[in-house]
Amino acid sequence: NVFPNAPAAARKVADDIATLIRDRAEKGKSCVLGLATGSTPVGIYAELVRLHKEEGLSFANVVTFNLDEYYPMQPNELQSYVRFMHEHLFDHIDIPAENVHIPDGTVPADQVAEYCQKYEEKIAEVGGIDIQLLGIGRTGHIGFNEPGSDETSRTRLITLDTVTRTDAASDFFGAENVPRRAITMGVGTILNAWKIYILAFGENKAQIVARTVEGEQHPGVPATYLQQHRNVEMLLDPAAATEL
Ligand code: GLP
Repeated sequence: NVFPNAPAAARKVADDIATLIRDRAEKGKSCVLGLATGSTPVGIYAELVRLHKEEGLSFANVVTFNLDEYYPMQPNELQSYVRFMHEHLFDHIDIPAENVHIPDGTVPADQVAEYCQKYEEKIAEVGGIDIQLLGIGRTGHIGFNEPGSDETSRTRLITLDTVTRTDAASDFFGAENVPRRAITMGVGTILNAWKIYILAFGENKAQIVARTVEGEQHPGVPATYLQQHRNVEMLLDPAAATEL
């Protein structure tokens, strides 16, 4: 779906999320959200905060799992995804602290594999992810599933692509400061979600959007695996849709 602009796309996704949260709350059930970072979902979070403050949308029944985190990364560092999520969403809504899950960039190296398996188990314990939000990196990564990630991959430690580290350079005041690794949910973890929204805005995403939609499914562009999902929606602004 091509929207007139990014805020219009963000409002649509936020409205869908709010509808599901309210529907589940009426039934006394929880709503499990898979959340993304980066500039792309910021408008969705702003709209959810507005719905909470102005329309009384409660997040008391919401459970969240974030896609990824740099490794290593302290939660209070400027670039941490923990900090990002608190600044953009969690500090402004009534979600119970114990319902929030973000991969921990401080886990000792020899315990990361076990930690990642537990992350998967926690997702399974709550019945899986209802709505998964995704941005897309210029390498075709979703979460931090860089080229080479296949459709069965699960939560794990990965090595970041040079393109991704270059794109993150300004956040870290230089590419040399960008961590070389990250913890990310796998492509397989993402594909297990009931509904997926992938958003991309701006002309610098146009080429990878076209490869994601029109290219063959291939680990060289992990986002192409979304083609096999039965309930995925891509939301673009006109600039991101120019190569389609
Ligand atoms: C990072 C995140 C991804 C995100 C991507 C695109 O690599 N780990 O989840 O999709 O950046 O970022 P942006 O939305 O800022 O373009």
